[in-house]
Amino acid sequence: MRFHVLTLFPQMILDGMNTSITGRAIEGGLMSVEAINIRDYADNKHMKVDDYPYGGGAGLVMQAAPVCAAYDALTEKIGKRPRVVYMTPQGHTFNQQMAKDFAKEENLVLLCGHYEGIDERALELIVTDYVSIGDYVLTGGELPAMVVIDAVSRLVPGVLHNDESAETESFENGLLEYPQYTRPVEFRGMRVPDVLLSGHHGNVDKWRHEQSLIRTKKYRPDLYDAYMKSSK
Ligand code: ADE
Repeated sequence: MRFHVLTLFPQMILDGMNTSITGRAIEGGLMSVEAINIRDYADNKHMKVDDYPYGGGAGLVMQAAPVCAAYDALTEKIGKRPRVVYMTPQGHTFNQQMAKDFAKEENLVLLCGHYEGIDERALELIVTDYVSIGDYVLTGGELPAMVVIDAVSRLVPGVLHNDESAETESFENGLLEYPQYTRPVEFRGMRVPDVLLSGHHGNVDKWRHEQSLIRTKKYRPDLYDAYMKSSK
Protein backbone atom coordinates (compact mmCIF):
# COMPACT_ATOMS: atom_id res chain seq x y z
CA MET A 1 0.00 0.00 0.00
CA ARG A 2 1.27 3.43 -0.91
CA PHE A 3 0.41 6.56 1.08
CA HIS A 4 1.10 9.97 -0.47
CA VAL A 5 0.81 12.96 1.87
CA LEU A 6 0.42 16.45 0.43
CA THR A 7 1.68 18.78 3.15
CA LEU A 8 3.58 21.95 4.01
CA PHE A 9 5.46 19.98 6.71
CA PRO A 10 6.87 16.84 5.06
CA GLN A 11 9.47 16.27 7.77
CA MET A 12 6.75 16.00 10.40
CA ILE A 13 5.16 13.14 8.44
CA LEU A 14 8.46 11.35 7.82
CA ASP A 15 9.54 11.70 11.48
CA GLY A 16 6.23 10.32 12.67
CA MET A 17 5.87 7.46 10.22
CA ASN A 18 9.43 6.13 10.05
CA THR A 19 9.32 4.84 13.64
CA SER A 20 7.73 1.90 15.43
CA ILE A 21 5.44 -0.49 13.53
CA THR A 22 4.84 1.81 10.56
CA GLY A 23 8.60 2.36 10.28
CA ARG A 24 9.21 -1.39 10.31
CA ALA A 25 6.53 -1.91 7.64
CA ILE A 26 8.10 0.78 5.43
CA GLU A 27 11.54 -0.76 5.89
CA GLY A 28 10.15 -4.19 5.05
CA GLY A 29 8.56 -2.89 1.83
CA LEU A 30 4.98 -3.68 2.92
CA MET A 31 3.96 -0.04 2.51
CA SER A 32 5.45 3.32 1.63
CA VAL A 33 4.82 6.85 2.90
CA GLU A 34 5.77 9.66 0.56
CA ALA A 35 5.58 13.24 1.87
CA ILE A 36 5.13 15.75 -0.94
CA ASN A 37 5.95 19.35 -0.08
CA ILE A 38 3.20 21.56 -1.50
CA ARG A 39 5.59 24.51 -1.24
CA ASP A 40 7.75 22.92 -3.96
CA TYR A 41 4.85 23.64 -6.33
CA ALA A 42 4.56 27.37 -5.56
CA ASP A 43 4.60 29.41 -8.75
CA ASN A 44 6.43 32.48 -7.38
CA LYS A 45 10.00 33.16 -6.38
CA HIS A 46 9.13 33.63 -2.69
CA MET A 47 7.56 30.15 -2.63
CA LYS A 48 4.43 31.65 -1.09
CA VAL A 49 1.47 29.26 -0.94
CA ASP A 50 -1.13 31.22 1.03
CA ASP A 51 -3.00 34.50 0.78
CA TYR A 52 -5.70 36.61 2.45
CA PRO A 53 -9.27 35.34 2.26
CA TYR A 54 -11.61 37.07 -0.20
CA GLY A 55 -14.35 38.76 1.80
CA GLY A 56 -12.00 39.46 4.68
CA GLY A 57 -11.52 37.73 8.01
CA ALA A 58 -8.67 36.43 10.09
CA GLY A 59 -5.92 34.11 8.89
CA LEU A 60 -4.59 32.99 5.55
CA VAL A 61 -5.94 30.48 3.05
CA MET A 62 -3.80 27.97 1.14
CA GLN A 63 -3.99 28.74 -2.56
CA ALA A 64 -5.51 26.32 -5.07
CA ALA A 65 -2.67 26.40 -7.61
CA PRO A 66 0.18 24.78 -5.63
CA VAL A 67 -2.16 22.17 -4.14
CA CYS A 68 -3.48 21.18 -7.57
CA ALA A 69 0.00 21.29 -9.14
CA ALA A 70 1.34 18.94 -6.44
CA TYR A 71 -1.60 16.58 -7.04
CA ASP A 72 -1.20 16.72 -10.84
CA ALA A 73 2.51 15.87 -10.56
CA LEU A 74 1.64 12.90 -8.36
CA THR A 75 -1.09 11.52 -10.64
CA GLU A 76 1.18 11.90 -13.63
CA LYS A 77 3.96 10.03 -11.83
CA ILE A 78 1.83 7.08 -10.71
CA GLY A 79 -0.45 7.07 -13.76
CA LYS A 80 -3.63 6.93 -11.65
CA ARG A 81 -6.09 9.23 -9.91
CA PRO A 82 -6.30 7.72 -6.43
CA ARG A 83 -8.73 8.63 -3.66
CA VAL A 84 -7.81 11.93 -1.98
CA VAL A 85 -8.65 12.26 1.71
CA TYR A 86 -8.77 15.84 2.98
CA MET A 87 -8.16 16.05 6.72
CA THR A 88 -10.61 18.58 8.14
CA PRO A 89 -12.70 19.03 11.30
CA GLN A 90 -15.64 19.40 8.89
CA GLY A 91 -15.32 15.80 7.63
CA HIS A 92 -16.95 12.53 8.63
CA THR A 93 -15.50 11.27 11.90
CA PHE A 94 -12.86 8.62 11.25
CA ASN A 95 -13.63 5.10 12.49
CA GLN A 96 -12.50 1.49 12.11
CA GLN A 97 -14.88 0.86 9.21
CA MET A 98 -13.34 3.75 7.26
CA ALA A 99 -9.86 2.39 8.04
CA LYS A 100 -10.92 -0.98 6.56
CA ASP A 101 -12.31 0.71 3.49
CA PHE A 102 -9.14 2.77 2.89
CA ALA A 103 -6.99 -0.35 3.40
CA LYS A 104 -8.43 -1.76 0.14
CA GLU A 105 -6.76 1.02 -1.89
CA GLU A 106 -3.45 0.51 -3.63
CA ASN A 107 -2.67 4.25 -3.38
CA LEU A 108 -4.14 6.73 -0.93
CA VAL A 109 -3.53 10.48 -0.96
CA LEU A 110 -3.87 12.46 2.28
CA LEU A 111 -4.20 16.21 1.91
CA CYS A 112 -3.20 18.35 4.90
CA GLY A 113 -4.44 21.90 5.30
CA HIS A 114 -3.05 24.69 7.44
CA TYR A 115 -4.05 28.20 8.43
CA GLU A 116 -7.73 28.74 7.67
CA GLY A 117 -7.88 25.84 5.23
CA ILE A 118 -7.54 25.41 1.48
CA ASP A 119 -9.19 27.35 -1.37
CA GLU A 120 -12.51 25.57 -1.99
CA ARG A 121 -11.82 25.20 -5.72
CA ALA A 122 -8.83 22.92 -5.11
CA LEU A 123 -10.98 20.79 -2.82
CA GLU A 124 -13.76 20.58 -5.42
CA LEU A 125 -11.27 19.51 -8.06
CA ILE A 126 -9.34 16.79 -6.25
CA VAL A 127 -10.88 15.66 -2.94
CA THR A 128 -12.94 12.44 -2.77
CA ASP A 129 -13.29 12.06 1.04
CA TYR A 130 -13.52 14.60 3.88
CA VAL A 131 -12.32 13.10 7.15
CA SER A 132 -12.10 14.46 10.72
CA ILE A 133 -10.40 12.67 13.62
CA GLY A 134 -12.71 14.22 16.20
CA ASP A 135 -14.57 17.32 17.31
CA TYR A 136 -11.63 19.56 18.13
CA VAL A 137 -9.45 21.83 16.02
CA LEU A 138 -5.75 21.13 15.47
CA THR A 139 -3.16 23.45 13.92
CA GLY A 140 -2.97 21.36 10.75
CA GLY A 141 -3.87 18.12 9.04
CA GLU A 142 -0.53 16.35 9.61
CA LEU A 143 -1.37 14.63 12.91
CA PRO A 144 -4.80 13.57 11.59
CA ALA A 145 -3.16 12.18 8.41
CA MET A 146 -0.73 10.18 10.57
CA VAL A 147 -3.63 8.87 12.65
CA VAL A 148 -5.33 7.63 9.46
CA ILE A 149 -2.14 6.09 8.07
CA ASP A 150 -1.42 4.33 11.36
CA ALA A 151 -4.92 2.85 11.63
CA VAL A 152 -4.96 1.77 7.97
CA SER A 153 -1.43 0.36 7.96
CA ARG A 154 -2.13 -2.15 10.72
CA LEU A 155 -4.83 -3.67 8.48
CA VAL A 156 -2.36 -4.16 5.62
CA PRO A 157 -1.45 -7.88 5.50
CA GLY A 158 1.91 -8.57 7.12
CA VAL A 159 2.25 -5.24 8.93
CA LEU A 160 1.25 -6.72 12.29
CA HIS A 161 3.39 -9.73 13.09
CA ASN A 162 0.79 -11.55 15.12
CA ASP A 163 -1.87 -12.00 12.41
CA GLU A 164 -4.55 -12.58 14.99
CA SER A 165 -4.35 -9.30 16.82
CA ALA A 166 -5.98 -7.18 14.09
CA GLU A 167 -9.08 -9.37 14.41
CA THR A 168 -9.73 -9.57 18.14
CA GLU A 169 -9.19 -5.98 19.18
CA SER A 170 -11.54 -3.23 20.22
CA PHE A 171 -14.13 -2.29 17.58
CA GLU A 172 -13.56 -5.37 15.44
CA ASN A 173 -16.71 -6.95 16.85
CA GLY A 174 -18.32 -3.67 17.92
CA LEU A 175 -17.12 -4.07 21.52
CA LEU A 176 -14.14 -2.77 23.49
CA GLU A 177 -11.37 -5.24 24.22
CA TYR A 178 -11.26 -7.26 27.49
CA PRO A 179 -8.52 -6.55 30.08
CA GLN A 180 -5.09 -8.11 29.53
CA TYR A 181 -2.56 -9.40 32.07
CA THR A 182 0.99 -10.71 31.91
CA ARG A 183 3.52 -11.94 34.48
CA PRO A 184 3.78 -11.83 37.45
CA VAL A 185 0.62 -13.50 38.79
CA GLU A 186 0.59 -11.08 41.71
CA PHE A 187 1.53 -7.41 41.53
CA ARG A 188 1.17 -5.09 44.58
CA GLY A 189 -1.32 -7.48 46.08
CA MET A 190 -3.45 -7.67 42.91
CA ARG A 191 -3.87 -11.13 41.39
CA VAL A 192 -4.52 -12.10 37.79
CA PRO A 193 -8.11 -13.49 37.58
CA ASP A 194 -8.02 -17.25 38.27
CA VAL A 195 -9.86 -18.15 35.06
CA LEU A 196 -6.90 -16.90 32.98
CA LEU A 197 -4.59 -19.30 34.82
CA SER A 198 -6.96 -22.26 34.48
CA GLY A 199 -5.93 -23.32 30.98
CA HIS A 200 -9.63 -23.85 30.15
CA HIS A 201 -10.03 -22.08 26.78
CA GLY A 202 -13.81 -22.18 26.78
CA ASN A 203 -14.00 -20.49 30.18
CA VAL A 204 -11.34 -17.95 29.18
CA ASP A 205 -13.32 -17.00 26.03
CA LYS A 206 -16.53 -16.70 28.02
CA TRP A 207 -14.86 -14.53 30.68
CA ARG A 208 -13.30 -12.28 28.02
CA HIS A 209 -16.60 -11.80 26.24
CA GLU A 210 -18.32 -10.90 29.54
CA GLN A 211 -15.55 -8.44 30.36
CA SER A 212 -15.88 -6.87 26.89
CA LEU A 213 -19.60 -6.37 27.50
CA ILE A 214 -19.03 -4.87 30.98
CA ARG A 215 -16.38 -2.47 29.67
CA THR A 216 -18.33 -1.39 26.66
CA LYS A 217 -21.46 -0.76 28.73
CA LYS A 218 -19.44 1.32 31.21
CA TYR A 219 -17.24 3.36 28.87
CA ARG A 220 -19.12 3.37 25.57
CA PRO A 221 -22.84 2.96 26.19
CA ASP A 222 -23.47 4.05 22.58
CA LEU A 223 -21.51 1.06 21.24
CA TYR A 224 -23.10 -1.24 23.82
CA ASP A 225 -26.63 -0.28 22.76
CA ALA A 226 -25.76 -0.78 19.08
CA TYR A 227 -24.23 -4.18 19.85
CA MET A 228 -27.26 -5.30 21.85
CA LYS A 229 -29.63 -4.18 19.08
CA SER A 230 -27.65 -5.96 16.36
CA SER A 231 -27.31 -9.24 18.29
CA LYS A 232 -31.06 -9.51 18.99
N1 ADE B 1 -7.42 19.62 10.93
C1 ADE B 1 -7.56 20.38 12.03
N2 ADE B 1 -8.29 19.76 12.96
C2 ADE B 1 -8.62 18.55 12.44
C3 ADE B 1 -9.38 17.43 12.91
N3 ADE B 1 -9.96 17.44 14.10
N4 ADE B 1 -9.51 16.38 12.10
C4 ADE B 1 -8.95 16.37 10.87
N5 ADE B 1 -8.24 17.38 10.38
C5 ADE B 1 -8.07 18.47 11.15
